[in-house]
Amino acid sequence: MDKIKISGGRRLQGKIAIGGAKNAALPLMAASLLTDDTLSLSNLPHLDDITSMAKLLTQHGVSLHLNGHAPNGGHTGRVLDMRAKEIVSTTAPYDLVRKMRASVLVLGPLVARCGVARVSLPGGCAIGNRPVDLHLKALEAMGAEIILTEGYIEARAPEGLKGGHILFPQVTVGGTENALMAASLADGVTVIANAAREPEIIDLAHCLVAMGAEIDGIGTDTLKVTGKPRLHGAEYSVVPDRIETGTYAIAAAITGGEIELTGTRIDLVEALIDVMRMAGVVVEATDTGMIVRGNRATLKGVDVMTEPFPGFPTDMQAQFMALMAVANGASMITETIFENRFMHVPELSRMGTDINVHGRSAIVRGVSKLSGAEVMATDLRASVSMVLAGLAAEGETVISRVYHLDRGYERLEEKLAACGAQIERVKG
Ligand code: EPZ
Repeated sequence: MDKIKISGGRRLQGKIAIGGAKNAALPLMAASLLTDDTLSLSNLPHLDDITSMAKLLTQHGVSLHLNGHAPNGGHTGRVLDMRAKEIVSTTAPYDLVRKMRASVLVLGPLVARCGVARVSLPGGCAIGNRPVDLHLKALEAMGAEIILTEGYIEARAPEGLKGGHILFPQVTVGGTENALMAASLADGVTVIANAAREPEIIDLAHCLVAMGAEIDGIGTDTLKVTGKPRLHGAEYSVVPDRIETGTYAIAAAITGGEIELTGTRIDLVEALIDVMRMAGVVVEATDTGMIVRGNRATLKGVDVMTEPFPGFPTDMQAQFMALMAVANGASMITETIFENRFMHVPELSRMGTDINVHGRSAIVRGVSKLSGAEVMATDLRASVSMVLAGLAAEGETVISRVYHLDRGYERLEEKLAACGAQIERVKG
């Protein structure tokens, strides 16, 4: 298994191009199942999770064609044409779903288009139980009959889905996405209340509208979808990755460096930028993104709590913790979205951090220096928090289980090395 080796302690300086968002691209790809026309996505990132979704779609009968590079800088973003002319299988098998939970996003589109779907239950994962009960309740509200059998979700709506009223008791990104896609082909009007408002949901809604869907309230927590008998093809560009943006913003801050992030938008990361500024990091908006400037001497601890968008994202919690680990003073970081998302704490402590977890909160007492160590990642964002700590640490850090990083960060070593990081992948 590959490892990442970092010789830390270098101030990073340079430019990083941000790619399309993984978490937007995955539901957008699933949306290709809603039409027999071609859906063409540009600014698609080159990531293992995208490959997993492509494999899943292929086995459902979608033909895929990858068209080189998108215009954005020439080196990030690809264009993928997807055509689900005929759905040859309505089953999403365990083997593919277990590798990537987002596979469950094919459930809504399949049952909406074919009247039947059989999708493996994803099971737990490193950051929590992550049930999909709310996805299922949403489909039931649209008239689907659902049974759980032999580890599979079986959904049926032989007469087609009907418009319904969905009230999510808790904000769910994936649940909102499944509901939105299914409602677009349902007969009648569906109201989705307490809907997630993440930029990835807005992206999906805009793409569905480009495909002929009628959706009111985009960007709010109440979405009204007037179902259409059919959707058509469209060309759509994936929104920039706000988590990749935030991660490299922290790379600049934690190394006391200066990095210009291009191909992104500051409004996607407002909650993060607010707390980074409170911590003493300078962030300036530019036409194509932002410039982030850090100063370790004046970096201070600030408290954050993860919340659904527009709050502070759970997907930035581990990276922000790495930053707070070297700040002056203490910071309390509270995780409210996932029950088990502090798995990076014991690994970071191997690098000399001073962090205590009490239930859903972690008290991070800043230390003046970190030291390189061998560490192991448990999930995507945990892994990258170790990369960030490694960039700031004295000496060598070796991170194993790099496959987590490859799921969500495109050419990570290359992008950081271009800013002066000493980082390499060791094949194993
Ligand atoms: C999405 O996961 C993202 N994944 C996650 O990113 C992200 O952390 C999460 O949203 C929150 O922002 C993708 O977009 C592919 P949820 P999702 O449904 O949709 C509970 C990363 O690192 N819940 O909003 O699975 C759930 O357990 C990943 O890129 C139910 O109880 O998240 C969690 O506590 C990790 N029942 C909370 O809701 C349900 O049916 C929010 O989950 C659904 C969710």
